Amino acid sequence: MTSPDADAAWSALLALARRPGAGAIRPLFAADADRAARFTHRAGDVLLDGSRTSVSAEVLAALLDLARARDVAGFRDRMLGGAVVNPTEGRAALHAAQRGGGDPAVRDTLARMAGFVAAVHGGAILGATGARFTDVLNIGIGGSDLGPAMVARALWTPGAPMRAHYLANVDAHAWEALRARLDPARTLVLVASKTFTTQETMTNAALVRTWLVGALGEAGTGHLAALSTNLPAAAEFGIPAERVFGFADTVGGRFSLWSAIGLSLALALGWPAFESLLAGARGMDEHFAAAPLHENLPLLLALTELWHVDALGYPARAVLPYDERLARFPAHLQQLEMESLGKAVGLDGAAVGHATGPVVFGEPGTNAQHSFMQLIHQGPTPVPVDFILVANPDHPHADSHRKLLANGLAQAEALLVGKSLDQVRAEMQAAGADAARIDAIAPHRVFTGDRPSNLILVPRLTPATLGQLVALYEHKVACLGALWGINPFDQWGVELGKVLAGGTLAALEGRTVAGDAATRASIAEILRLQGRSAGAG
Ligand code: F6P
Repeated sequence: MTSPDADAAWSALLALARRPGAGAIRPLFAADADRAARFTHRAGDVLLDGSRTSVSAEVLAALLDLARARDVAGFRDRMLGGAVVNPTEGRAALHAAQRGGGDPAVRDTLARMAGFVAAVHGGAILGATGARFTDVLNIGIGGSDLGPAMVARALWTPGAPMRAHYLANVDAHAWEALRARLDPARTLVLVASKTFTTQETMTNAALVRTWLVGALGEAGTGHLAALSTNLPAAAEFGIPAERVFGFADTVGGRFSLWSAIGLSLALALGWPAFESLLAGARGMDEHFAAAPLHENLPLLLALTELWHVDALGYPARAVLPYDERLARFPAHLQQLEMESLGKAVGLDGAAVGHATGPVVFGEPGTNAQHSFMQLIHQGPTPVPVDFILVANPDHPHADSHRKLLANGLAQAEALLVGKSLDQVRAEMQAAGADAARIDAIAPHRVFTGDRPSNLILVPRLTPATLGQLVALYEHKVACLGALWGINPFDQWGVELGKVLAGGTLAALEGRTVAGDAATRASIAEILRLQGRSAGAG
């Protein structure tokens, strides 16, 4: 901690966590009939019900003390105001400014994107054979893939202007599977890379360019556009300036879907939907900037996470969207949260000395229930859950939707209320089990309960509500960065593996021997299985 106030707030929090029953939730409901309402807050269309956690009024007060001592509001204001909040890279974090506020460069890019989308949809821009573009292929990885792919999966419907496809993995099985579904004459290709140097993306871009040229001749390169901050590299790849959509390096990859990186969405969903996505996120920005701390949704999510991770020692969190269309939302949050918060040193370079971002994972409900929920209900360590529910479906099957919601709510209730040994024994007795069987089986059927979850509810899944949800989690990440005194906007941890891959690639090509003893052994075995040997070329 960096100030006496913050140290005191942190100690007070840990003292609360050491009290017997600090993780209990049911007694909080027993003591406060209005707890559900008291711990429910709204921002725009998003409702956050934090009542099913062990954050009591007293714990919340201590958490808010910590937020004040760590000047989270000051950090927020500096971030939104364009100050350098990413000191290890010497940059501001201007993702919120991409959502169409007053920044002239952003307005200019949005206007160019809108013009391009209109020209593609209107037929002013056609493929090399004169055919209209029906499909857009986004080649990118990490933040240049996950956000747009997640949104496309969530919002695309058969009546949308174009189909969207996403190619990320350097594993060419992905490309082989995709190309079988694509017609080169009708496919527009976006090479999405902030740096335009990422090995996976540049390898895939070269494969796809070869495919275009093979089918359409050199004119096929006219199907390429670039989304990048590195304009010279895009030009070197052969993409003319008018087909390059830039953005500033102050936009982090995992925060970039609002920038030119979102072009696949504007093409596939239409410009009004893209604008509405941005407007939704802007609404959450306004809430984040103005709402009092005790009602500020991103901050409340962050404080609850800090309580779980640092005070109670829960090392993971599950994200369960009860909406199939949000199937990739957990994957987006995995990058957003773990790439941002997986840090062990503070801004001063010293070890933080406590846990930071938890492991984030998830699957859509109800699938998750038949997969990993066993561990969340009965494993020894609680795993907090974010349940994301959508009140109204966009299909006519009301019965299915009611069952979906019923399951989500029931999971949250089961985690909270649990089932005691006495209850289990009574149930088994009533079902006619004998005493020996009850003794043997009952302990296996106990649910401890008091397992925490947040419930996030939106009325309908629309571009606007999805924009709000994504921005909610982005700002939660910023709050945690401030609370933990770490930089949530760099990602040095991904670099070492990239560098070492250069050596392992040369070794797999048989050009050299590289790596530590374990890597050398693995490479030798792979080369043997490939019928080759080290140094054999
Ligand atoms: O390897 C991590 C990372 O740098 C992410 O932060 C980023 O989203 C991804 O790679 C892709 O980077 P780029 O957009 O520069 O290709």
